[in-house]
Amino acid sequence: MWQPPERIKHELPPAAWPTREEAAAARLFQPIALGPREARTRTWVPAMVPWRATEDGFVTDDVVDWYRRFADGKPGVLVVEATGIRDIPSGPLLRIGHDRFVEGLSKLTAAVKEASGGETLVFIQLIDFLSIRRRPPRDKFFARFLAITEQHRERLFALRGQGAADGDEAEIRARLEALTDAELVGVLTERELEDLKQGYRERVTDVHLPHIRDLPTSLPPLFAAAATRALAAGFDGVELHFAHAYTMASFLSALNTREDGYGGSRENRMRLPREVISAVRERVGTQGVLGCRYLGDDVVAGGNHVDDAAWFGVELARAGLDFLSISKGGKFEDARQPKVGWAAYPYTGRSGYECMPTIYSDERGPFSRNTPIAAEIRRTVRTAGFTTPVIAAGGIASFAQAEAALAAEEADLVASARQSLADPDWWLKMREGQGETIRRCEFTNYCEALDQQHKQVTCKLWDREALDAPDVTMAQDGKRRLLAPRWR
Ligand SMILES: Cc1cc2nc3c(=O)[nH]c(=O)nc-3n(C[C@H](O)[C@H](O)[C@H](O)COP(=O)(O)O)c2cc1C
Ligand code: SF4
Repeated sequence: MWQPPERIKHELPPAAWPTREEAAAARLFQPIALGPREARTRTWVPAMVPWRATEDGFVTDDVVDWYRRFADGKPGVLVVEATGIRDIPSGPLLRIGHDRFVEGLSKLTAAVKEASGGETLVFIQLIDFLSIRRRPPRDKFFARFLAITEQHRERLFALRGQGAADGDEAEIRARLEALTDAELVGVLTERELEDLKQGYRERVTDVHLPHIRDLPTSLPPLFAAAATRALAAGFDGVELHFAHAYTMASFLSALNTREDGYGGSRENRMRLPREVISAVRERVGTQGVLGCRYLGDDVVAGGNHVDDAAWFGVELARAGLDFLSISKGGKFEDARQPKVGWAAYPYTGRSGYECMPTIYSDERGPFSRNTPIAAEIRRTVRTAGFTTPVIAAGGIASFAQAEAALAAEEADLVASARQSLADPDWWLKMREGQGETIRRCEFTNYCEALDQQHKQVTCKLWDREALDAPDVTMAQDGKRRLLAPRWR
């Protein structure tokens, strides 16, 4: 992962944990309305993909155990990982694109309700993503993937002169492959160069492809059907994934230059999200909570910044969402070049760092790093007259940080991903005045590296305790606990 060049190592924020009485009086542990439901506390575990589903996208016992373990800590809200809304193969990522997935998802919601004693609202994050291919070997790219055009012949002629553009396609392919990387810059288009270096990736602007052109027609019913299944499976609500590197975030982004009324101006970029929300709301009604996660800043050249996000916040609130969960970055545009045979991963560049900042940082450091963008969005949404709750995430790992964000009205609920992963009981430990027993996240992103390699996600701190205890289940590599050690 990219890291700020300063590489300043930051200490964890001081841990002044509350007594049981202080916790009872704290803002963090007060209830809050989320549309038709009420969260018992303002604590939130955001979506985290643990790589535990089957290859066909079904819930496994390991998936159920993973969410049950988070529910032990009784957060106000627990959001289940990004779950695909289409009925297409997508590896071991959860899916909800067909009724056959409902049964497994029902087991998951039942486990969360049971473990939290009914205290935790459980939402599911609904995602759509476009196709991405692995980085091809150079010879294969020229022999098979590259579509030879008249422009290649013209540029070869300009570069090598007489005869270079003659011959059949196979000869042109061979001549292109023989060019140096520097020469290729003048011969391939920018997009072809990227396909060679990063692997082919579809974009929402590829409107020459019928399935991309038709996304505005295909997506609203797909999201609506997925939301219906989510309610049938016992979820209290859905979180539309409008963040990071995926389809809906790409529609919102200033990089969306579609000319069909769904790109260009902010108003046009908001059109598909508005249509998705309306289609989902029609199905969900007031039966379930409907919110979204979106980016307070894309953190890539030409992308959205916080002023765009504040404008979108108002429009998303106006469209009737029950919450706005704010994330940052996590884009493909600045992803590191993958190894040959690997697909690009959207959390390897600067935008990825800003999504999941580590202790090796700049002056600002990782802690509460992204709260200011949530605060700016919340201020703008409030000024426009909407009371929609806003959720902040990013390096929040202590009671004081969470309370400060709520006291300063920077956010209405506080999300902690990695700290909840390190110690799923941490919310409950705070409530019970047992803060000193909290296993504190070190923000070095061992877990995120596992995610990147599509390995079962675990926390490095879990393996420091009794690995030989009788009820310990181990990861596929046999070296790591699959779940956080029991508290009691
Ligand atoms: C292993 C892992 C998987 C993640 N998967 C998702 C996901 O499915 N959807 C999502 O919106 N964010 C995902 N995130 C980002 C987190 O929800 C969160 O925004 C980020 O880690 C910053 O919060 P933190 O500093 O509290 O960890 C993931 C993070 C991690 C570490
Ligand atoms: S692996 Fe590291 S960054 Fe991830 S939750 Fe554990 S301590 Fe935190």
